[in-house]
Amino acid sequence: MSKLVTGEMLNKLSDRFGNAFYLLESKAFEQNYNDLIKAFKTYYPKVNIAYSYKTNYTPKLVRIVDRLGGYAEVVSDMEMEIALRSGVSPKQIIWNGPVKNMKKVKELLLTGGTVNIDSIYEADQIRIIAESYPEHQLNVGVRCNYEVGDGVLSRFGFDVNGEDFDAVMSLISTTPNLHLVNLQAHFAKRSPEYWTARAEGMLKTYDKVVANYGLKPERLDIGGGMYGRMPDSLRSQLGIGNVTYDDYAKRAAKAFAEHFENVEDAPFLFIEPGSAVAGDCMRFVSRIETIKTVRGKVFATVIGSQKNISMNGINPPMEIVAGGVENRITVENADIVGFTCIEGDVLQKNYSGSLAVGDYIVIGNCGSYSLVMKPPFILPNFPVIDICGEEVEVIKRGECFDDLFHTFNF
Ligand SMILES: Cc1ncc(COP(=O)(O)O)c(C=O)c1O
Repeated sequence: MSKLVTGEMLNKLSDRFGNAFYLLESKAFEQNYNDLIKAFKTYYPKVNIAYSYKTNYTPKLVRIVDRLGGYAEVVSDMEMEIALRSGVSPKQIIWNGPVKNMKKVKELLLTGGTVNIDSIYEADQIRIIAESYPEHQLNVGVRCNYEVGDGVLSRFGFDVNGEDFDAVMSLISTTPNLHLVNLQAHFAKRSPEYWTARAEGMLKTYDKVVANYGLKPERLDIGGGMYGRMPDSLRSQLGIGNVTYDDYAKRAAKAFAEHFENVEDAPFLFIEPGSAVAGDCMRFVSRIETIKTVRGKVFATVIGSQKNISMNGINPPMEIVAGGVENRITVENADIVGFTCIEGDVLQKNYSGSLAVGDYIVIGNCGSYSLVMKPPFILPNFPVIDICGEEVEVIKRGECFDDLFHTFNF
């Protein structure tokens, strides 16, 4: 449940931080994390989370994951560095992703992290590292690709029925210091209806790996791609019903519980949520700077942009908080538009109600793929402020010119 914001509060924050900022609620993130893991543990006790850094790599959030015993799911050396600088032990890092910096892969492997192999080319590179460091046990995973009925032919990982899968498993089973800790798969479609097939495909693959190669991975990771909490207005635009964490858990974790009933050394079920835990933990606030009428249409322009929220094609959940109390007007079908020069930079289409310059639009569900996807287009990005404690905490200061331009030669 989002903390209530008032015009007085936003006016104070805007005096300190400027006319646009993100409001983080780290406690909501923690609550989501705990609720999600609990939903899965209801059916299967051995569950853990590898948090998808790409979704929102704010250090405060990744530290919460670490404190709660979760893993870091990273897909680049940049993200690995975020984990390390946030104090995450390499042993708690799992590196996914289709293209990896092999120098950094070596560092992670030699310090106990897990690298999920995505192609036979990568497998060969890792073999060379393994042969060069015979005294080190290297933890690897294999990214698996199988049919889940979602209509997508995924480009990630190994076709579990293909020759390359056989080759990578054979390589791991015959290389003494390669230790298969992980099987992993991720499917982007968020509907829970595919989650039974996800779990069953993984369980089938596990059985095959045990039977054919004598390998027994400790973690079976079935990826992210879950819906999180959101208001009904967003659900109806996305065309989804009231999907809960339990809808995923009961399909996947139940299948695990049945498969490993009475098995003592059953593997852990891992999930890789991003949006499901981060989505509703951040709002974006932006002040209305101008209101004008052009050929009969009202446009209210804010000092934020659609680029700040990375949601398009829908009207994101929004409330208007009165900050400008004078010269209020009542508008019908006004578009609330951003600072960029893109015609389509519309944060809210056809808003009807009361408005004034100095009001704030507060857009909800901005926690995933927003901050991390904001390009340096026309303006640098705005600060991020956590409003969970007694005091507001600056999580990220507003970016300035030099933050973005010191890599250019002027
Ligand atoms: C491998 C992997 N895991 C987890 C996620 C997180 O997915 P989401 O934010 O949809 O939960 C992604 C997103 O692309 C991913 O590629």
